[in-house]
Amino acid sequence: MTISAHGGSLVNRFNPNYDTTTITKEITIDEIALSDLELIGIGGYSPITGFFNEEDYINVVENMRLSDGTVWSIPIALPVVEAELTHLTVGDEAKLVKDGIVFGVITISSIYTPDKQKEAVNVYRTDDEAHPGVKQMLNRPNTYVGGDVTLIRHQEAEFEAYTFTPAQTRQAFEEKGWETIVGFQTRNPVHRAHEYIQKAALETIDGLFLNPLVGKTKSDDIPADVRMESYEVLLKNYYPANRVQLGIFPAAMRYAGPREAIFHALVRKNYGCTHFIVGRDHAGVGDYYGTYDAQEIFNLFTADELGIQPLKFEHSFYCNACGGMATTKTCPHGKEDHIILSGTKVREMLRSGQVPPKEFSRKEVVEILIKGMQQVEVKA
Ligand code: ADX
Repeated sequence: MTISAHGGSLVNRFNPNYDTTTITKEITIDEIALSDLELIGIGGYSPITGFFNEEDYINVVENMRLSDGTVWSIPIALPVVEAELTHLTVGDEAKLVKDGIVFGVITISSIYTPDKQKEAVNVYRTDDEAHPGVKQMLNRPNTYVGGDVTLIRHQEAEFEAYTFTPAQTRQAFEEKGWETIVGFQTRNPVHRAHEYIQKAALETIDGLFLNPLVGKTKSDDIPADVRMESYEVLLKNYYPANRVQLGIFPAAMRYAGPREAIFHALVRKNYGCTHFIVGRDHAGVGDYYGTYDAQEIFNLFTADELGIQPLKFEHSFYCNACGGMATTKTCPHGKEDHIILSGTKVREMLRSGQVPPKEFSRKEVVEILIKGMQQVEVKA
């Protein structure tokens, strides 16, 4: 028996045969809206069926709930440029277009001016324009258009073998006989700390859904294609094949820390996960969030409202004295014995061809990352 989708049933708004011949209006969508359209269409964002109208937007920003009370933490907005707005009215159908390709259609039910200051403070917990998620939100147009969508065409699948709809992952989990499935979000390579918490979860959960985010990330994050290769080699060498499913998560990163952790968990429920790992500073960036803020936010909701169980893990590290991975819950030694490197430090090392210690990252992973990062440098 698979877990219910958020809100009760899995949304499917994909219709490649949708007739657009009589639709004259067009809205240009950016990379983030395209990934949101895809996720709405395939049911990843169930129960959401379109870009937020004003009522849902305000409710989510202020109360972390859709207007019907369902928990939802990140606004799924469609910002539209001034020049295109003049042609649009409520009730219109408009094609959703990127680079000349029609990916979907929206039936407009709402056109509104968001309070972006409030969106920043409530969703990102800061209005600092240096925050990459806030900056991204502020840089997008200042009017949002809401309405139900139909997805007509999927995005070009860059990682075809790992591209699944939630209906497909649910079926795959069932075929594998997994009753409990733990979802793992990442925008990074899987280092030893990630591996440790995944495997700690796998000691009691039937299967791991390694679900790396491959949508838009900030420019200094490690590119998705390099990461995908590193996941493949890690899984091949260090994980039992029958306990892991790798599949991409096509969303854009918001860096909204706690609110994004709730969003990440709900979407993984839609993919069929029963559990979701939330570790240290989940979806955080810089010093904007406390180390465990993204875990504490789950306490605001009942288990029934969420429907997916967070598995909360302490900051983990390799301890030289223990001779293995640990956390302060299991290791009595001091910082001098712990190998802890920041993401920034590791990226710097990889770019300059330096090998991070084997206690931090598996050698097969490091080899791929160094090669990949150097190719990125050459291209740039
Ligand atoms: S994220 O932005 O996608 O959350 P990242 O890929 O670094 O970033 O993290 C993936 C998951 O692993 C998150 O749940 C995060 O909290 C967790 N995590 C990352 N590093 C550690 C660590 N050293 N100890 C415990 N949890 C960690």
